[in-house]
Amino acid sequence: DQKKSLEGKTVLITAGPTYEAIDPVRFIGNHSSGKMGFSLAEEATKRGAKVILISGPSSLKPKHDNIDLHRITSAKEMLDKVFEYYEKIDIGIASAAVADYAPKVVASEKIKKNEDTFSIELIKNPDILKTMGDKKTHQFLVGFALETQNEEENAKGKLAKKNLDMIVLNSLRDEGAGFKNDTNKIKIFTKTEKMEFDLKSKENVAKDILDCIEAQLLK
Ligand code: C5P
Repeated sequence: DQKKSLEGKTVLITAGPTYEAIDPVRFIGNHSSGKMGFSLAEEATKRGAKVILISGPSSLKPKHDNIDLHRITSAKEMLDKVFEYYEKIDIGIASAAVADYAPKVVASEKIKKNEDTFSIELIKNPDILKTMGDKKTHQFLVGFALETQNEEENAKGKLAKKNLDMIVLNSLRDEGAGFKNDTNKIKIFTKTEKMEFDLKSKENVAKDILDCIEAQLLK
């Protein structure tokens, strides 16, 4: 029996959107499907890793029952769940589309439509991946960037600012790429390298990302 390439490694993956409550029935969220994160979780499991998948609201179900799936709702809950495991992981991959802001106060009752205009005060959510980067000791950290302008510069900026080992850039300019599609077209940057890939299914994109991570770990 051949040893699997990620055997003995613990991989934590964040996936999906986060929902930030406005009142008991409403939230601020985004269209992330969770597909990229779930594909990464499945591929890492096939390669023998112990996988912890922390996902915001997503209709997806993992195909492997040995994926340790934790479903959360808000950014704050995602942050807390990540740091329950952070010490024990070898690789962290942040593919979640975390909401940047959350309502400052959550109304305890459903808000009535009395006024003609209505505003909600928002406050910045914690940056989960930046916090992981700040607390990094041995973990290999991978982030995602979705940019509309100066994409390579911005991606490399995030690699440095969040103390990452690798960043995956998906461009919104590419047809079929981005967070609602089943396909993705990526570029991967490390501190010294740049790799470009063709448009492909998220299952195959997950293979490319994990191949790159494995190659870096061997260096
Ligand atoms: O700064 P920006 O949101 O573009 O960074 C994207 C990367 O950071 C993604 O890997 C995303 O999962 C992660 N992130 C996070 N927590 C946030 C915002 C982004 O983990 N609050």
